[in-house]
Amino acid sequence: RVSAIEAFRANILHFTDNPDPMTGAGIEYFEDGVLLVEQGRVKALGDAQTMAAAGFDLQSCQHFPDQLIMPGFIDSHIHYPQTSVIASYGEQLLDWLNNYTFPSEARFSDAEFAAQAAREFLQLLLQNGTTTAMVYTTVFAQSTDAFFTAAAQMNLRMISGKVMMDRNAPDYLLDTPESSEQDCRALIERWHQQGRQLYALTPRFAPTSTPEQLAVAGKLYAQYPGLYLQTHLSENLQEIAWIKQLYPNARDYLDVYDQYGLLGPRSVFGHGIHLSDEEVARLAQTGSGIAFCPTSNLFLGSGLLDMARLEAAGVPVSLATDVGGGTSFSQLRTIAEAYKVLQLQGQNLHPLKGFYMATLGNARALQLDHCLGNFAPGKEADFIVINQGATPLQRLRQSSTLTVAEKLFALMTLGDEHNIAHTYVMGKKMFSRTAAEGSLSW
Ligand code: GUN
Ligand code: ZN
Repeated sequence: RVSAIEAFRANILHFTDNPDPMTGAGIEYFEDGVLLVEQGRVKALGDAQTMAAAGFDLQSCQHFPDQLIMPGFIDSHIHYPQTSVIASYGEQLLDWLNNYTFPSEARFSDAEFAAQAAREFLQLLLQNGTTTAMVYTTVFAQSTDAFFTAAAQMNLRMISGKVMMDRNAPDYLLDTPESSEQDCRALIERWHQQGRQLYALTPRFAPTSTPEQLAVAGKLYAQYPGLYLQTHLSENLQEIAWIKQLYPNARDYLDVYDQYGLLGPRSVFGHGIHLSDEEVARLAQTGSGIAFCPTSNLFLGSGLLDMARLEAAGVPVSLATDVGGGTSFSQLRTIAEAYKVLQLQGQNLHPLKGFYMATLGNARALQLDHCLGNFAPGKEADFIVINQGATPLQRLRQSSTLTVAEKLFALMTLGDEHNIAHTYVMGKKMFSRTAAEGSLSW
């Protein structure tokens, strides 16, 4: 019988709040659950046997025995043009940008190339179970247009924007305050809040923008409701020393952005590793968020994020891959590396907290929890089916786990994209691991 409602049966996990592993508050887990989706949105979630007793026909379900359904992962900081320079050897931030990143970004002046790269990047996200991301493009407006075009074709909810950068980078990558204003306005009017797309003003970081350009960003931020802002903050000690030279009148790094009106609840600052108490307090006061990028911070030797300090101060902390400074598209890998970064500081990341961060926590940090992050009725049905035993070693380890937390901890510690069996976007299957993954052309 044809029905507008689709049903998916599996182990199902989602979060209704920041979890308390001691009491179970905030965690909803069904050992045998059913997720109902209608017209791309969550209709209901329940226990299979309870629903069957109430007359629901379990035969109508697509059944994934022993697999785990959870909301699609959200990545709060990633660079699509850096896909091909992931895993480039030997440098810290400033040399890494000059030697690898900037040359790679130059190719995105070609709209055809950018369109192909955007499609392949989005496929990589889906293969990794990530259904929403906050994405840097390049300085070229056509690369941003190509990105949104690809995201809209796949009906993915994405936050993105054109990089603004008018100094301290190669000439071929520079815009001007005037051209960036024009380009941003055109892109905002074309893409912001069109379908699932959202626009983020994207001054790369204070060293590559003049004060005049940051003022343009501040003016636009104040002018268009619902815009986001993304940039980098206090990632690397040499970068911070450079800020002191470039902006001698600023109290600190964050104050540079503050002076131009760039702080607020839709502002997401990448890294924020080396912050003063004043900066932490000001982030909290303005509701500005930090994107924690553990694989990048370790790979580029940037430092260890003191997450407990930020959370104690009330700063929203989201979880991000930061590819290509980051070394994996997988939020499973990212949770595992976050755990290790915190271990080195005597802190801890409970697995339930880690999976919360990658789903509802990031949705909240990106002000998207009204439409994403869990299976509350009416939310957009972006979800993944996870195979918890994708390798012989994983199956061995999982066979001796007892609790959900133990299973999740083994999954995050040993897992990667190979654990993502299927990825659904607005209820539609957009990736299956059994299908050919295709090849990358760039
Ligand atoms: N700071 C300025 N640009 C970048 C970038 O592309 N990656 C990282 N990790 N840090 C940055
Ligand atoms: Zn970054």
